[in-house]
Amino acid sequence: MDKMNVAILGSTGIVGQTFIQLLQRNPKFHIEDVYSSGEKAGKAYGDIVNWNMDELVPAEIESMKIKSLEEFMTFRSKYDLVFSALPSEAHAAEEKIAEYLPVITKSSYHRHAKDVPLVIPELNIDHHKIIEYQRKKRNYHGFIASEPNCSSVPIALVLDALRDFSVSDIRVVTMQSISGAGINGVSPMDIMGNLIPNITGEADKIKSEIPKILGRVNELSTEIEQDKMEIWAQCNRIPVLRNHVESLSMKVSGEISPEQIREALEKYKGSPGYTRIRHGNPIFRLSEKPLFPQPRDLIHIKDDMKVLMGQLYLKDGIFSCVCTSSNLIRGAAGNSILHAEILKEEGYIS
Ligand SMILES: NC(=O)c1ccc[n+]([C@@H]2O[C@H](COP(=O)([O-])OP(=O)(O)OC[C@H]3O[C@@H](n4cnc5c(N)ncnc54)[C@H](OP(=O)(O)O)[C@@H]3O)[C@@H](O)[C@H]2O)c1
Repeated sequence: MDKMNVAILGSTGIVGQTFIQLLQRNPKFHIEDVYSSGEKAGKAYGDIVNWNMDELVPAEIESMKIKSLEEFMTFRSKYDLVFSALPSEAHAAEEKIAEYLPVITKSSYHRHAKDVPLVIPELNIDHHKIIEYQRKKRNYHGFIASEPNCSSVPIALVLDALRDFSVSDIRVVTMQSISGAGINGVSPMDIMGNLIPNITGEADKIKSEIPKILGRVNELSTEIEQDKMEIWAQCNRIPVLRNHVESLSMKVSGEISPEQIREALEKYKGSPGYTRIRHGNPIFRLSEKPLFPQPRDLIHIKDDMKVLMGQLYLKDGIFSCVCTSSNLIRGAAGNSILHAEILKEEGYIS
């Protein structure tokens, strides 16, 4: 397979940096250009980035001159695909680019458009069917494919794995790391030795995104119909650098044993649509260790796309558990890169 030539928008941010680190290791991609706000355009990436990854800036990227969005159209023929880690206010740039090229975006702006898929690759690639309609309706040669908020990803995966148990009354409490707020998002004065018991807009994202992700494309493939589930969520910011923790509880119907739930989670490798084209590895790593899972447990495993899960209990028809996953990889750049690989395999990216 030819390498996909990509541009990264928002490359100096924390998600943009994660894209660079992951794409450098992935033989299916070549980073052609890195973009950021106009202020940094023309400067060498390594000179101005506030690099926050656990490896040095890759040598090939260090000397690369940053480009501004205003220059994009001059260079667009170099790219097969664009990864966007822009804030939602910059959505107009993504729409302009989609007239020509596929855009996979982490921003929240397009997540609720009925003609835009909101995708976790292992869960709902069947929603890609909507892309053809989007192209016709918006007169795009490319398309926009959006992705969920970082905290929605592990919750949606758990709910998909437990679909057979008709879960209801879903309750979520999150404990989210500082990096989830972006490179300059939280002041140390506010967070050190502290907990912030509300992340503006975050609970609404969880409540509204997951029913769309677990929904289905209508018969004409013209819109995505949401699942009817209701979710209650409360979101906290905690003084941890990376990786989010979610405490979940839900009602399960019928005579279900803890072993059945455990087995469904352990065997879950994604939806049948995904496992038909990819072999797939188990997505959850379960443990009965009494102090598992902690955000730093993710440092010790090689597969950053895993969702660690512990504290599993089933009592009086209520199942509860705690999940930890990487907000920057599982919840952001890693999700997008796997998504791009699948879109290419399905023929949506040429
Ligand atoms: N952080 C996470 O865990 C996470 C997870 C899932 C989704 N997301 C979403 O991913 C996106 C990026 O998040 P982040 O945490 O990486 O944010 P960030 O650290 O604040 O980075 C934002 C990036 O966008 C660039 N930018 C900002 N305004 C721009 C404009 N008007 N035109 C062009 N470039 C502009 C910035 O460039 P300069 O450096 O030049 O300012 C920077 O490269 C957001 O939409 C966020 O909601 C984040």
